[in-house]
Amino acid sequence: MTAQTIELEAQLDAIRQAAQTAIADATSLDQLEHLRVKYLGKKGPIPQVLGGMGKLDPAERPRIGAHANEVKEAIQQDLDRKKTELQTAAIQAQLETETLDVTMPGVYRSQGKIHPLNSTIDQVLDIFVGLGYTVAEGPEMETDYYNFEALNFLPDHPARDMQDTLYLPDGNLLRTHTSTVQIRYMEANDPPIRVAVPGRVYRRDTVDATHSAVFNQVEILAIDEGITFTDLKGTIKVFLQELFGDVEIRFRPSFFPFTEPSAEVDVQWKGRWLEILGCGMVDPNVLKAVGYDPEIYTGFAAGFGVERLAMVLHQIDDIRRLYSSDLRFLKQF
Ligand code: DAH
Repeated sequence: MTAQTIELEAQLDAIRQAAQTAIADATSLDQLEHLRVKYLGKKGPIPQVLGGMGKLDPAERPRIGAHANEVKEAIQQDLDRKKTELQTAAIQAQLETETLDVTMPGVYRSQGKIHPLNSTIDQVLDIFVGLGYTVAEGPEMETDYYNFEALNFLPDHPARDMQDTLYLPDGNLLRTHTSTVQIRYMEANDPPIRVAVPGRVYRRDTVDATHSAVFNQVEILAIDEGITFTDLKGTIKVFLQELFGDVEIRFRPSFFPFTEPSAEVDVQWKGRWLEILGCGMVDPNVLKAVGYDPEIYTGFAAGFGVERLAMVLHQIDDIRRLYSSDLRFLKQF
């Protein structure tokens, strides 16, 4: 071996050494790529060393060529190993920063809710649908006929004065109760009938803690052969029990032109009796008005004040809170 051969081999070993150290110190894939070009590229140090082979004894050249290949392979292996190492570290780092902490409090988005009046209507209707009733509706603007006449209010009947009515300029009126839909529904359907009617009603009432000029009712009507007052009482009791659980109730004899006999029902609310519904056996004159034969059919009807039901259900002290749109109030439901 000549001194030149030894010299070239030493140069190749030095390149390998320098590359090894630089690769070991690399901290990014970019740096690594940079080192690959620097040590293994065409303009790198190895071709330069090989360029010096011209001065060698031809017999020694293969030896240097083989050594150069060994060095290249070693450097390539170092690069590959380091690349895998850096990639694994990068994935690991990403995993660590992206860990999901499921115990962190979430982003709060406030959700709308059903208004207590609407949820009360839903509850009432659910109970009656469960008892086999159908839900129906009618118009809020009405004629004298549907609001009074067909319901057996005589033209000069004092009962017309019981409800102060809001009349429209054209002679129509805003319905004072949902009993109007009894007539409309019976006109359009034959018995047997089981219907529940939610709706808004209007009166010239002075507003106070338990009265409002606009409020909601649910009317029920059952017409069939052989319906008696017992059915009425049983239905009302089952309904109130379903809605309120064990609240004290009382039936009180009353008067309505469209029922005979009639009753009102009160429940205990804030230490006193609160009237929540009117009811009775449908007056034969009402059945006649829609062309039903009162000798064959009997039935009962009732009208519930939805606000009053909601007030008992949620122990609300003033009806006006239900219309105030005060979120501090509404958020409690
Ligand atoms: N319509 C009556 C009112 O608004 C309530 C009522 C009483 C409805 C007796 C009825 C009933 O169906 O039978 O005061």
